[in-house]
Amino acid sequence: MTREPFRILFVCLGNICRSPTAEGVVRHLLASRAPELEVEVDSAGTGDYHVGSAPDQRAQRAARLHGIDLGDLRARQVEAKDFERFDLILAMDRQNLQALEVMRPRASRAELALFLEYTGHPGAPEVPDPYQGTADDFELALDLIQAASRRLIALLREQHA
Ligand code: 4NP
Repeated sequence: MTREPFRILFVCLGNICRSPTAEGVVRHLLASRAPELEVEVDSAGTGDYHVGSAPDQRAQRAARLHGIDLGDLRARQVEAKDFERFDLILAMDRQNLQALEVMRPRASRAELALFLEYTGHPGAPEVPDPYQGTADDFELALDLIQAASRRLIALLREQHA
């Protein structure tokens, strides 16, 4: 019998900065360090402003410096069926977590959480929105996402090995 993969959706506002970065980082870690885990990842935004766009050039550049290519990703908006398809939906900040809670169909069994809180990251539980910021803000977002992603892989190993 084949097992269904465990499906994780990362969510931010625009799906061009933080959540595609998380998708790319976790995809990279799964392929390089945990190929045995049957986990699928995707990302989406609560807003529709950038649907169809590639990740922001600044997010792509920060990721590329760490060997991660986000170039093929395209933004999409969260939809109702995501709450059925995904087992775990991880929001980058409280504003997006709240938007997800409002959208969530009653029948959904998906677990909703803040990415940094779920992964037990010390300090602030949000990945700050870097969109209006500088290259340093994108670096900070990437650092937080990389640390949380490593912890996520460790948790997945404990739960799904
Ligand atoms: P993200 O960043 O939510 O990390 O993708 C943003 C991208 C675009 C906007 C806001 C945040 N925007 O307002 O267009």
